Amino acid sequence: MPYRFLLFTILILGFFSFRRTHAYSVNYVAANDSTLNKKEVSLENIKKGKALYEKNCIMCHGNAGKGDGAAGLFLNPRPFDISSDKVQSQSDSTLFFKVTLGKAPMPTFKTLPFESRQLLLLYVRELGKNKIRHP
Ligand code: HEC
Repeated sequence: MPYRFLLFTILILGFFSFRRTHAYSVNYVAANDSTLNKKEVSLENIKKGKALYEKNCIMCHGNAGKGDGAAGLFLNPRPFDISSDKVQSQSDSTLFFKVTLGKAPMPTFKTLPFESRQLLLLYVRELGKNKIRHP
């Protein structure tokens, strides 16, 4: 009887841990542009994205995303110019993936909620439009 109970517990735990990993991996990166569910470009979302950018990215990528943030000056390679065509020509899911995973010396942001990374992607696109004036 205790064995059966043990087996049962293991099965249940296994099931839930599988479910959690599964949910996590879906949450982790979007497989393609349609599973990304991009955020609507609204003033509110831009503000949210900007706040996240200021908290997590600005020190390396700088105000306008040019890669001239103070913390990035001594990195090798230097932080990319996010507003450049080289970055902006990539698909939404590719950029989302790269922001999620990071790449040394850029840190990973996979612990940020999916929604925060959606908002960051939105702000990355705003920086690409070069419409934002930074004092
Ligand atoms: C510690 C400094 C640092 C921080 C913080 C940082 N980055 Fe980066 N980022 C880099 C560097 C360095 C690269 C170039 C990485 C490489 O190719 O090795 C890069 C590359 C990128 C790229 C281009 C990737 C490509 O291959 O085209 C994007 C987009 C990007 N960062 C967005 C962000 C966003 C959004 C944040 C905030 C959530 C952020 N980064 C935070 C340093 C940083």
